[in-house]
Amino acid sequence: MGTVLEGAGAQVDIIQVGRGRADPSPERYDAVVVAGSLHGGRYQRALHRWVRRHAAALNEQPTAMISVCLGILQKDPKVWVDLDAKINLFLKETGWQSSVVKIVAGALLYTHYGWLKRWIMHRITRKAGVETDPTLDYIYTDWDDLRLFAEGFLRRPAVRAATMASSNGAGSKRTGSVQGSPVSRLAASQAARAAASSRS
Ligand SMILES: Cc1cc2nc3c(=O)[nH]c(=O)nc-3n(C[C@H](O)[C@H](O)[C@H](O)COP(=O)(O)O)c2cc1C
Repeated sequence: MGTVLEGAGAQVDIIQVGRGRADPSPERYDAVVVAGSLHGGRYQRALHRWVRRHAAALNEQPTAMISVCLGILQKDPKVWVDLDAKINLFLKETGWQSSVVKIVAGALLYTHYGWLKRWIMHRITRKAGVETDPTLDYIYTDWDDLRLFAEGFLRRPAVRAATMASSNGAGSKRTGSVQGSPVSRLAASQAARAAASSRS
């Protein structure tokens, strides 16, 4: 998402909370995008903790929540209702009122998983009606859709007002993209590589 925001013209800091002692303060930014992925029905614990700790500050500024998952690939309204419930639970538990929420299909990176995780993920996806080859990696993210979302977010009046206010004041701030895990970035760079290689 950070890469996508940069592509849309924002100055972005991409921070993985829980890595080292990363505990960025939302006040340093004009806007904050929080990206977390579902693992076993929960978002990353470090992300949960960070959002809960900074909920009051986040509620004072434009924010977006990106929920990365694979459930969205299932054409089953019950699964979508469940995904919504998981987002609502995260927001309720953390006390954060995100300005916007976006659900994004993530990746199945079989070659990065150990044998047990590979086996479990293959079983789950097959049960969900998605046929995959466990020797390959799959990126389901619709990057064009995500790019449109990022551009739309940066055009939101609240984001533009915050950017304008900080550039008129004591130095311009940046957009923070806070994520719960590194793989979404990996997926972004893989997609960028794929795009680059398809051009050559
Ligand atoms: C161990 C594991 C558990 C997962 N659990 C869920 C889940 O409960 N619901 C869902 O919709 N997606 C689930 N997913 C899909 C992930 O959200 C998706 O693969 C995402 O791209 C993972 O990104 P990350 O590796 O950057 O955290 C799971 C994936 C893995 C590997």
